[in-house]
Amino acid sequence: MANNRTPIMAGNWKMFKTPAETIAFFEKFLPLVERSTHCEIVICPPFVNIPAAVQAVAGTRVEIGAQNLFWEKQGAYTGEVAGPMLAAAGARWVIIGHSERRQYFGETDQTVFKKTVAALEAGLKPIVCVGETLEEREAGQTEAVLARQFDNGLAPLSPEQFSRVSVAYEPVWAIGTGRTATPELAAEAHRFLRERVRERYGEEVAAQVRILYGGSVRPDNVRGLMAQDEIDGTLVGGASLDPDSFAAIVNYL
Ligand code: 13P
Repeated sequence: MANNRTPIMAGNWKMFKTPAETIAFFEKFLPLVERSTHCEIVICPPFVNIPAAVQAVAGTRVEIGAQNLFWEKQGAYTGEVAGPMLAAAGARWVIIGHSERRQYFGETDQTVFKKTVAALEAGLKPIVCVGETLEEREAGQTEAVLARQFDNGLAPLSPEQFSRVSVAYEPVWAIGTGRTATPELAAEAHRFLRERVRERYGEEVAAQVRILYGGSVRPDNVRGLMAQDEIDGTLVGGASLDPDSFAAIVNYL
């Protein structure tokens, strides 16, 4: 059954590219997506590239996001960046709780919740990441892990807060491995998450929340993924670094 959710095609550049490389990317990328009105297009570069990226996309439909934020608005937190600073720099989106942040920087469902609230207060649109590791999947714990991540990281949000959040399902075993989840397997996880949303926030919110898939999305597998009614967009790592390849993903139709 068709739905009326506008897809979000987002690129997570992780720790790649300088400001000059950011400008060069947009010079090639923007003309390729000029007519791509079927989806929202978001690029999340490293913090230091946000000003250059915002300037490059001015007057286009492409929006810029950050990959992380801290939950306090300001203060003695060496090395951290606050939501209001990102908004003031022109960022519109922010990725929260990416598995790399959970794995290498000690983020938890509790910090994900605090960061999501902070992002919303700053007027940013959060893309909150969830997903199981290979070990968890093989142990048959996928749904238990997704339930825990949703219940602790997202379910404490009010319905109004949650209505401004997008979710990214990123199975950890599919990230950077070239091993994509099959469209059916991804859709199954999305269905489980949407059902969790329905139980907590009701039918209407569940019908409108956008759930993106991330993990080895490439131009050659994006169509199959996007053909699933449950999949409302993609969060792309490696393949978002090249303008031709990310444009091909955005233009999957
Ligand atoms: P890859 O597309 O490189 O597998 O990364 C996915 C990801 O982590 C996006 O956030």
